[in-house]
Amino acid sequence: MRTPQPSHSILGAEPRRSSCRLCGKGLRLAVDFGRMPLANAFLTREQFASEVFFNLSAGFCEPCSLFQLLEQPKPEQMFHGGYPFFTGSSEGMRRHFSELASRIRKDFLPDGGFITDLGSNDGTFLKNFPQEQYKRLGIEPSANVASAAQAQGIETEISFFDIKISKRIRQQKGGADVFAGTNVLCHIPDLAGTLHAVAHLLNPEGVAIFEDPYLGEVLAKTSYDQIYDEHVYLFSVTALVRACESQGLRLFDAELIWTHGGSLRYSICKKDSKRMESPRVRQFLDSEKKSGMLDFSRYEQFREQCEHSRDLLIETLTALKAQRKRVAGYAATSKSTTVLNYCGITPDLVTFISDTTPEKQGKFTPGTHIPVLPYEHFKSNYPTHALLFAWNHTEEIYAKEEAFVQSGGRWITYVPKVKVS
Ligand code: TYD
Repeated sequence: MRTPQPSHSILGAEPRRSSCRLCGKGLRLAVDFGRMPLANAFLTREQFASEVFFNLSAGFCEPCSLFQLLEQPKPEQMFHGGYPFFTGSSEGMRRHFSELASRIRKDFLPDGGFITDLGSNDGTFLKNFPQEQYKRLGIEPSANVASAAQAQGIETEISFFDIKISKRIRQQKGGADVFAGTNVLCHIPDLAGTLHAVAHLLNPEGVAIFEDPYLGEVLAKTSYDQIYDEHVYLFSVTALVRACESQGLRLFDAELIWTHGGSLRYSICKKDSKRMESPRVRQFLDSEKKSGMLDFSRYEQFREQCEHSRDLLIETLTALKAQRKRVAGYAATSKSTTVLNYCGITPDLVTFISDTTPEKQGKFTPGTHIPVLPYEHFKSNYPTHALLFAWNHTEEIYAKEEAFVQSGGRWITYVPKVKVS
């Protein structure tokens, strides 16, 4: 592993932690990726000089089995009126949310029932609950994406979520039958406080359904790019069961889903709810124990796997440069910020990154300053190689980019292994 670099804490970041956010016991250092910018802080040339950094490192709490960042920037620095991630930007995610909504309507939400969505983004998910049929409310701190939802008639609280907001919503609208949160709980440092606020809002037989990147998949695939400022936690089922218990809640189901490269969908009810526990919960707990995920030594092995992956990727890109190949990045994802900065990938190795999000186009990648160009630029200037940063959308992208491959283009991927295909 590279020598750990000094922390370049950004204004307002919490101090580097040595104790677990949940139980207060000591954390053991798992990985240290060094100096890192915010994953979604795409910037203009004029902003280069004022760019801010923090130290991206993660620790493991053995008593809670909770994998967590040691230092996280303040939430207001990450989620704001210029947040450039729009849920609706991928066809696969739109379909995923429509399927999740069908399942919720069928299993948990009666006609006239109340659903809230935490981190509701541009309303892609809540859109699937017609307002003539359900009461729906989004909660979203990033004003620009929240406005996109409001513009479609989806009522949205522009706010972070805590017990105060939970009490106000309950008072104004009543208890929730369903509390959804996709790719959001792992973003919030106060895990106990958030679960407490969820418990307060839920009706006695209400259900909270969350989806977050699954620690087991990150370890199995060495997909270390899931570690970035926004993901303060990567959860195991073991850790979630304990966190829920501490707040009068019970995790009663869990399943592995494809989103974000391998996520966990887990369902939670109140401790005294009549809901039966699915056998899947026990299966997860057993397999996590068996796989070594609860032991610190697994994280030492993970650290070595990250280093190996980084070294191979840099070797591959350097060799391609020596052969005068033209490598472009495909999709300026949040995840790419960790890969680019940890591996030290500079614009001479990856000349531009193509992305479909207008808010990112014309800007530069955080920390490494690679130009982000519109997708049309990729289509009209095929590189010899495309480094796939949105590997979690491989199926959708490979289907869309057959012409690139037919023209002789090659893909470079790094999850689960560095490969040129
Ligand atoms: P995703 O992997 O969902 O993002 P993150 O790592 O940020 O959670 O990818 C979203 C980004 O990828 C977004 O900037 C749009 C871009 N993208 C493309 O440019 N083309 C595509 O075909 C897809 C699926 C995404």
